[in-house]
This record gives sequence, structure tokens and C-alpha cells, in this order.
Amino acid sequence: MGKQRVLSGVQPTGNLHLGNYFGAIGNWVKGQSEYENYLFVADLHAITAPHDPTKLASDTYTLAALYLACGLDLQHSTIFVQSHVSAHSELTWLLNCITPLNWLEDMIQFKEKAVKQGENVSVGLLDYPVLMTSDILLYQADKVPVGEDQKQHLELTRDIAARFNHLFAKPDQPVLKLPDPLIRKEGARVMSLADGTRKMSKSDPSDLSRINLLDSPEQIQYKIKRCKTDPIRGLTFDDPERPECNNLLTLYMLFAGKSKEEVAAECQDMGWGQFKPLLMETTIAALQPIQEKYQAITEDKGYLDSVLRDGREKAQAIANQTLADVKAALGYYLPV
Ligand code: TRP
Repeated sequence: MGKQRVLSGVQPTGNLHLGNYFGAIGNWVKGQSEYENYLFVADLHAITAPHDPTKLASDTYTLAALYLACGLDLQHSTIFVQSHVSAHSELTWLLNCITPLNWLEDMIQFKEKAVKQGENVSVGLLDYPVLMTSDILLYQADKVPVGEDQKQHLELTRDIAARFNHLFAKPDQPVLKLPDPLIRKEGARVMSLADGTRKMSKSDPSDLSRINLLDSPEQIQYKIKRCKTDPIRGLTFDDPERPECNNLLTLYMLFAGKSKEEVAAECQDMGWGQFKPLLMETTIAALQPIQEKYQAITEDKGYLDSVLRDGREKAQAIANQTLADVKAALGYYLPV
């Protein structure tokens, strides 16, 4: 039996930070040899909120380079840019027409973002989960690594696939595969450095709230020095009164590759003055190899372009087949 297929993507908006790393890319890297992976830069998703056209191409390039710098191996993983495979847009249209409007209006993320964006809300923001559905179904993915905030979108993906199969496929010959979420327990949630109860986020206006993968050692030192703590001596995990303490210990645990018990024992008597330099040092050392690899990749611009060209070809071969099957099931007059 062949390997199961994993599909996932990250949007190329803003800097990639530790939340993206420990919540997504780092987990893809860890599990990659067990699966056949299709990992893309979600640049069609990046324009669902107002975006800067002078940055889209370079953000896309940077994110693809970071996929490689973080350790994705082309032997196991196909890396490509979403907009380079036009089947994503095309399947979205076809699935739009079989998706009930109220399914999209019920999406929690839509409701939250729509409130924030006010009058700027585009049809694209509402439709984003159908685009995500198309991303997944085109590759007949078995597993989709997702965080908590994307679980509802994966449920929707399954609902749309089931509805399509029910309406247009023969009962014993489904056209679209229903994917399962891939939830890894070691994928920890990384919280904001300014508020331990909120997620580390690209959209937080303060860059001091996050550590980006490409931050310099000086920036990392400065951010950790300035981050929010509390006046209590002795550091502990899981104290609901001390969300910042839990978050910073978690970061240390993840970077040092130690167990929770080890870290709890090591830090139980420490004050912040002792812990912060330790966290700085560990963070800087852990990011250094990623940053060096990123430099090497981006110095050779032709290299990444050739990776993305190969990725596009491999992705297209699968995606175009699914698209053709969907069109046939819908009854389209197909070109000869
Ligand atoms: N919506 C995801 C996010 O914001 C990114 C994404 C787009 C994705 N398409 C996907 C993730 C398909 C998994 C599968 O994080």
C-alpha cells in the first residue's frame, strides 16, 4: 500500500513566526517521511483581506524558501505555489455552486473577521473556506494537519465532498475523498509575548508580540527582554493565573527539545533574570541553522524557482485529473 497523502499550506502574509513554526511547518517536517506531502504557499488566500501588491511576490518567495530552510525534504514533499496551479481557482467556482450559502455564513472565522474588517468584507472572505476545500479535495488528501482554528473548515470540506459525491457520483464510485484532520499532540500553541492568553499572530500590530523565524539575534534578545512576565519567583507550567509563564516555559521546552518534566524541574526555582537569558540563548541557537539555510537558498535564486517549477508540474498532474473527474461528473461537455 502506498503512503497516505498529506496536504497543507500557509498564507504568505507578514513574517513567519514561532506560532507558524510549532503549529504548522515544524510538524510537517517531523512527520514528512511517513507521508506523501503536498505543501503549498496559499497566495490565493492571501488576498481575502486587503493586501499590498508590491509585497505579494516577495512574501511568496520568502515563505517557499522558509519551507525548505525549516527542513522540508523534496524526496517526501512537493512544494508549490497555489496560484501556479489554476485548478484551485477553477474547482472553487464549481464547488461554490453546490455549497449552500448558510454553510459559509456559519463559519466562526468568517464571523470574527467580518466584524473586524467592517465594510471592507469581500466575497472572497466569505468564500475562503470553499477555496480551502478545493485545495484539499484536488489532491484527494487523506490527512490535513490543521490547528484548532481551522477544524471547522475541515468539517466543511468533508460536508462539501459528501454533498458532491451524493449529488453527482455513483454510490460506489465517489469522485472526492473525505479527508481526516491530522492532529499531533506535540504541536503546542504558542502565545503572544505581550499577552499570554492570545495566540501569537501575524496580524498583531506590534512586532514585539512575536518572534519571527528570520529575526536577528539582537531582535530576539530585545523581544524576550521586553516580553510580559509576572512578579512571582519560581516558574511553573499550567498555572491559569500565569499564562505568560506557561508560554515562555513552553517555548523553552520546544526549542531545547526537553520534556515538560525536565523543564519544570530545571526552572522551578528560577527568577526571570535567570530564565530570560537562557531562553534567549536557546532560541537564537535553535533558529540559527534555519536562518543559515535560508540565506544559502535565497542566494541562489534560480534554485528555488526550479523547485517551484517541479512542484507545480507534480501538483498539476494530480489536480488536473481531479478537476477533469469533477467536470465529467457535473456533466460538462469536455474538450477532445
Ligand atoms: N486557511 C489556512 C490558514 O489560514 C491555510 C490553508 C489554505 C490551508 N488552504 C489550506 C491549510 C488547505 C490546510 C489545507 O492557516
